[in-house]
Amino acid sequence: MTTLVTGATGNTGRHVVAELVRRGERVRALTRNPAAAAGRFPAGVELVAGTHTVPERLGDALDGVSRLHVTVTAGLAEVGPELVRRAVHAGVGRITVLWGGEVGPVEQAVADSGVRWTRLEPQEFMSNTLTWSESIRTEGIVREPYDFPSALVHEADIAAVAAAALLDDGHDGRVYHLTGPESLTPRERIAILSRAIGREIAFVPITHEQAVERLVATGVSRADAEFVVGWYAEPDETSTTVVDTVAQVTGRPARTFAQWVTEHAERFQAPRVTTG
Ligand SMILES: NC(=O)c1ccc[n+]([C@@H]2O[C@H](COP(=O)([O-])OP(=O)(O)OC[C@H]3O[C@@H](n4cnc5c(N)ncnc54)[C@H](OP(=O)(O)O)[C@@H]3O)[C@@H](O)[C@H]2O)c1
Repeated sequence: MTTLVTGATGNTGRHVVAELVRRGERVRALTRNPAAAAGRFPAGVELVAGTHTVPERLGDALDGVSRLHVTVTAGLAEVGPELVRRAVHAGVGRITVLWGGEVGPVEQAVADSGVRWTRLEPQEFMSNTLTWSESIRTEGIVREPYDFPSALVHEADIAAVAAAALLDDGHDGRVYHLTGPESLTPRERIAILSRAIGREIAFVPITHEQAVERLVATGVSRADAEFVVGWYAEPDETSTTVVDTVAQVTGRPARTFAQWVTEHAERFQAPRVTTG
């Protein structure tokens, strides 16, 4: 059976592809830029040009597909129901959806689709820490407005749960909130990073407004930037509470932040100074 993975080149999607392949599944990876994605996936993964945000131009990407992983990205809300309709029409019988932070038209369309579905509602990704990499590498500094804890989850664990929901029984109609094994503040994450790269890292407070402007400068809409920074300002109990869903679904403990840091340490290392 073949699974179509949308968002396949992204933070979580590439882990979903890898996990499905590890479990012996045939995988079709959807990307707007197959040339850039070439060589980034395990052997045997079929790269398909296209985007889930333009379902009418998906062509034969859904042909022969029995399972679908939907990554909710910008641009999907309006067209998501059409994507789901086409998938069901093509014979997809199981859908996992990585939600966009709230139950919108896509999540609703999947729930209403009549096929077997599972929704993944992860807590903050550990990979968000990569936004610190540049200032840590070049200045040994992290600038953040708040120091509240978050039960960060490893992207590979989100993927492992997605693969289980797609391939195993017992996950239909389930909504899985996913966290890592501990809730960490930015300062605690900085201490773990600092030990891993063997370098002092300073926490430098910035204002709420500076954090919003920083996000807007990366192309995020002001509304979304306000939403994200506002979330850091007032994390709700769900954001800070550790749950054991990853272990329950996958049968092994959720990966730690220290493990994530070990896997990505080189991204935070200071640039080498060459002489001569
Ligand atoms: N970051 C967090 O802490 C967090 C927490 C909970 C939930 N989420 C949710 O998780 C989802 C994102 O997952 P992710 O980080 O794995 O995805 P991602 O890396 O942001 O995007 C996955 C892939 O989708 C394609 N893509 C991205 N934006 C697109 C657009 N506007 N139109 C068409 N294609 C686009 C790109 O692939 P190609 O360029 O190869 O086509 C990209 O590599 C979002 O809904 C987010 O709200 C995030």
